[in-house]
Amino acid sequence: MSRSAVREKSQFVCQNCGATSNRWQGRCEDCGEWNSLVEETATSGVGSGPAVRMLGKGRAVALASLSGSTEEAPRIQSGIAEFDRVTGGGFVRGSTLLVGGDPGIGKSTLLLQVAAALADRGAPVVYISGEEAVAQIRMRAERLDLVAAPVKLAAETSVENILATLAMDKPPALLIVDSIQTLWTDVVDSAPGTVTQVRSSAQALIRYAKQTGTAVVFVGHVTKDGQIAGPRVVEHMVDAVLYFEGEGGHHFRILRAVKNRFGPTDEIGVFEMTGGGLNEIANPSELFLGERNARTPGAAVFAGMEGTRPLLVEIQALVAPTSLGTPRRAVIGWDSSRLAMVLAVLEAHCGVRLGDCDVYLNVAGGLRINEPAADLAVAAALVSSRLNLPLPSDAVYFGEVSLSGAVRPVGHAPARLREAQKFGFGRAVMPAAKDAETATAASVITQLADLVAGIAAAGRPAGD
Ligand code: TYD
Ligand code: MG
Repeated sequence: MSRSAVREKSQFVCQNCGATSNRWQGRCEDCGEWNSLVEETATSGVGSGPAVRMLGKGRAVALASLSGSTEEAPRIQSGIAEFDRVTGGGFVRGSTLLVGGDPGIGKSTLLLQVAAALADRGAPVVYISGEEAVAQIRMRAERLDLVAAPVKLAAETSVENILATLAMDKPPALLIVDSIQTLWTDVVDSAPGTVTQVRSSAQALIRYAKQTGTAVVFVGHVTKDGQIAGPRVVEHMVDAVLYFEGEGGHHFRILRAVKNRFGPTDEIGVFEMTGGGLNEIANPSELFLGERNARTPGAAVFAGMEGTRPLLVEIQALVAPTSLGTPRRAVIGWDSSRLAMVLAVLEAHCGVRLGDCDVYLNVAGGLRINEPAADLAVAAALVSSRLNLPLPSDAVYFGEVSLSGAVRPVGHAPARLREAQKFGFGRAVMPAAKDAETATAASVITQLADLVAGIAAAGRPAGD
C-alpha cells in the first residue's frame, strides 16, 4: 500500500494519559491535566505496528482450549537475589518489564549491575542507552567494578537502528533500554518523548521480545506525582512494572512490583546505595531498626510483612498539647485516614483524650507501610507518647483495629513472631491467632482497651 493511500491525519494527544482529541483543548477531558495536548500526526493510527498493514487479508490462526500442556514460564535469574525476588524468580523469556523511578534514584546503576551479573553467568546481554554515551557508562562500570563483565553496549535512540543491530546476532537473553522516553521510531512523525513515539517504540520492542524470547527491560522516568512520565500507556503494555524508590536523605532503596503478570505484586527488594553501587540488604529489619532508642516514649516496634518477608519497623508517635484551635495531625509513611480512625477509636472506646493534642506519626527509616496490621503498633506508640510511658524494649506489636475497638487477627502471625525472636524481641502483643506458636511471651488481646490498660499499668503491655 502506498503511503499516499493512508490518510495523513493530525490529532491532539494528551501527553499524560494518551487520550486523543480532534481539536486542541487547554485541558484533557480524560485525565483533567492542563496544557497536555500536543499535535501529532500518525500515518498508520496511533500505536499501530511499524509497517503499514495490508488491509482486508487476514491469516487464520489455530484456536486452542484452556486445558493442555503448559511449560512453567522459563526464568532467567540474574543472580541478584533482591532483584529476582521482586520479578517473581527471575526474568521470564519473551516478557517485558518497566522499571520506573525518580531521576537520580539509581535505575541505571541497578540495571547495569543486573546486566553485569547476568552476563557473568554466561547469558548474552545487550544494554542500550539513549541517555548516556558509551564512555559515561564505562565510567560507571569502573566505579562499580564491573568492567570485566561481557555486556554489549550501545548508545542509540532509534528503534529501527536498535532492531537492525540486534538482528545481526543471535537474540540476547536480556535487552535493557535506558530509557523508553528517549526512543523514537521512523513510523510516526511526533517528537521523541511524546506518547505516540513512546508507545510505538515500546510496541516494536515488545514485538521483538515476543518473537525472539528475549526479556526486555525498559527504564522509565517518573513524574512528581508518581506516574511514569507521559507514557503511562506503557504500563498497560508491559508484563511487569517495578518502581525503584527511596526517601530523600536515606541511602536505602526499595524495588517494588506494582504489576506483575508472572509473579506476586507485594514483594519488595531492599538495596543500599553506596559509593560502589547498590548493595543488597538481605536483612531489612536490621536496617529499619538501626538507630533505635528503646527508652523513649512513643516508639513501638511493628512486626510487619512485605510480601512473603517479615519486616520489623519502628513506629514513632509524638502527642503534644496543641496551641492551635484545630490540632495538627501529620503523618509520614502511613495512611492519614487510618491514623484518624485509630485516634477516634482510642477516644471513643478507650478513654484516651487526644482531641486537644497535636499528633505526629512517623515510620522510621522512611519506609511506607500499607498494612492494616500496623494499627495496633500505631495505637501503642500513640498511647505511650500520650501517657509519657516507654513501651517495653523487647515487645513487638501487630493487629488490625476495628471501629468497635476490637483487635482483629491478621495473617502470617508465625512468620512475624519468628522474625521478632530472631532480633531478640521476646514478647508480642497481638490478636489471637490459630496458627501462632505461643512459645514467645505473647500477650493475646482482643480489645484495644486492653492495650491501653496494659501500657497504663506501669508502662507494661497487657497480660504481664
Ligand atoms: P543513576 O543510576 O544514574 O540514577 P537514574 O538512572 O535513576 O537517574 O544514579 C545516580 C545517582 O546514584 C547519583 O546521584 C550518584 C549515585 N551513585 C552512587 O551513590 N554510587 C554509585 O556507585 C553510583 C554509580 C551512583
Ligand atoms: Mg539513568
